[in-house]
Amino acid sequence: MKAEIERLKKERNAVILAHNYTRGEVQDVADYTGDSLELARRATAVDADVIVFCGVYFMAETAAILNPGKTVLIPEPGAGCPMADMINAEQLRALKAAHPGAVAVCYVNSTAEVKAECDICVTSGNAERVMATIPRDREILFVPDRHLGSHISAKEGRDYVLWPGYCPTHAHLTLKMLEDARAAHPGAPVMVHPECPKQIRDAADVQLSTGGMCRFARESAADTILVGTETGILHRLRKENPGKTFIPVSDTLVCPNMKKTTLENLADALREMKTKVTVPADTASRARRAIEAMLAVG
Ligand code: 13P
Ligand code: SF4
Repeated sequence: MKAEIERLKKERNAVILAHNYTRGEVQDVADYTGDSLELARRATAVDADVIVFCGVYFMAETAAILNPGKTVLIPEPGAGCPMADMINAEQLRALKAAHPGAVAVCYVNSTAEVKAECDICVTSGNAERVMATIPRDREILFVPDRHLGSHISAKEGRDYVLWPGYCPTHAHLTLKMLEDARAAHPGAPVMVHPECPKQIRDAADVQLSTGGMCRFARESAADTILVGTETGILHRLRKENPGKTFIPVSDTLVCPNMKKTTLENLADALREMKTKVTVPADTASRARRAIEAMLAVG
């Protein structure tokens, strides 16, 4: 299967991008594996004609918005992000109408239509840096993740209007799971994703994007690290740090949508050039402004 994917990749002049939560075997055939910010950046620097995006739909959509001249394929178009679907453009327009003059900020885990209504995007990897560029006297609407929003709002020491969205996968993590994992591995640092609820974030040692977790794992002197995020990242952490031990805080943290890409549908995507991810031109150009405003922050 891997050899077939390699062959098809050359034939199509394609590049494979994969999120850190995808299946290990998919990460292994990808040209690049990363977090949402790293993948969005990488998508702007692709030389190939075709990008096959292994992850969830909004990520492939972001790649398509940033690369109007390229073909972006998603092996399984049904791989959505339930959090991204917790707000639509109409709801965001109503929120903006209730808060005239506010700056509308969206987490990249949102649809193209929602991005098109926003002033700027953030990811979990750059949210603090991006929010710091917004003048302190402006009201801020933050959608859709209330947990990432409250995390950054507390760091900044200013209030945001938070949309009540959340990630159903990270919602599985309980304080008891975290405390039990700590008790079983005393002294091991705990890293969690900022999509976790506040009590979990507060109980952890660090709150990081998945790319931030990969860096922390490399740089930390600890030989055992507890991981409070989707379990797909364990593959990469273990592969890159063979001398260290990574323990999931809970092995119930599985995003079913991230698991929908398999070697089989990835090969089919390349063979049959499906499923093409397209965004209507007007929506794409408005959404691009918000994504590029974020990427310009660096
Ligand atoms: P990262 O940008 O940290 O990889 O997060 C994406 C995501 O969907 C987390 O649930
Ligand atoms: Fe969406 Fe959560 Fe899955 Fe990330 S882990 S893609 S936020 S449902």
